[in-house]
Amino acid sequence: MATITLLGGTGFVGTALTTRLAARGERVRVLTRDPANGRHLAVLPGVELVRANVHDPAVLSRELAGTDVAINLVGILNETGFSGAGFQHAHAELTRKLVAAAADRGVGKLLQMSALGADENGPSHYQRSKGRAERHVREAPADLDWTLLRPSVIFGSGDSLLNRFAGLLRLSGGVLPLARAGARFQPVWVGDVVRAFEVALDSGATSRQSYDLGGPDVVTLRRLVEYTGEVIGVRARVIPLPDAISRIQAFVMDFVPGRPFSTDNYRSLSVDNVCREDGCARLGIQPASLGAIVPGYLGGDSSAARHSRFRRAARRT
Ligand SMILES: NC(=O)c1ccc[n+]([C@@H]2O[C@H](COP(=O)([O-])OP(=O)(O)OC[C@H]3O[C@@H](n4cnc5c(N)ncnc54)[C@H](OP(=O)(O)O)[C@@H]3O)[C@@H](O)[C@H]2O)c1
Repeated sequence: MATITLLGGTGFVGTALTTRLAARGERVRVLTRDPANGRHLAVLPGVELVRANVHDPAVLSRELAGTDVAINLVGILNETGFSGAGFQHAHAELTRKLVAAAADRGVGKLLQMSALGADENGPSHYQRSKGRAERHVREAPADLDWTLLRPSVIFGSGDSLLNRFAGLLRLSGGVLPLARAGARFQPVWVGDVVRAFEVALDSGATSRQSYDLGGPDVVTLRRLVEYTGEVIGVRARVIPLPDAISRIQAFVMDFVPGRPFSTDNYRSLSVDNVCREDGCARLGIQPASLGAIVPGYLGGDSSAARHSRFRRAARRT
């Protein structure tokens, strides 16, 4: 049994991963800004929710005492301002502090959740800050082992992307104006992402390695919306927005409470989110398709016919 400390463990991926780690009998400490965010995890055996300001190096150092493996899942899609400082703080700065505290405390291994497209020279603050975070991990002292995981968009029960599309399609009667409708993704199931973490935990072969994680379907954003419509039984009529209009839409959304879309998101979408290498294969994972999983949690019929219809269409995009 290892002692595993998770940052960002209360969210979508964190919930799936913590549940799996608890089932394996690990001792899991979930650091959170507010334990109420993780109350659904508190019932799991061996899981402890710890209120902690993970941005404070002294707190981090204290909370990492006795930890065998640290896992960083902290991530944001939008910041409060527009300068990039929020992304820098939540992704790059936090990772720099975590690497230092983990090395100082003799933590054996750091598993860092990055993202496909993370790139210090990328077009968005999100991608640049994730890229800087990767650099901090790669520059870790030699006695801190690490693994980087870089998933494309993640789907599964409780995801934000497909559930949001489903909500919007139901609200709008199926009509959806879409920015960057041609952007390509390689969605990966949260269960396969959790499996990747497990392999990284268990196998020495993942030491100081980075893995792109994508599923078997490469689809455009438009196709993803249409597919969501098929699953929930709403005929989606996607209106691809020209770039100039998309930019205006993003600018307007920048000021909508909760920022459902932003200029930074728009910039992230300017590069395809498709794997450059087959990280799943290197980890021995055969990833699940959208068709095998999505009907099970978004509703609608899950017939084999629907699945194969989707796979045929996905191959055309
Ligand atoms: N979901 C995807 O499609 C996807 C795709 C690629 C990469 N990723 C990466 O995977 C990781 C997990 O994603 P997710 O979808 O599970 O995200 P999520 O559901 O939004 O959860 C994010 C977690 O980060 C913590 N957090 C957020 N802002 C924070 C801040 N300013 N300071 C400290 N903690 C903060 C939250 O913890 P508390 O509120 O409990 O403190 C929360 O548990 C992220 O790094 C994300 O970038 C996700």
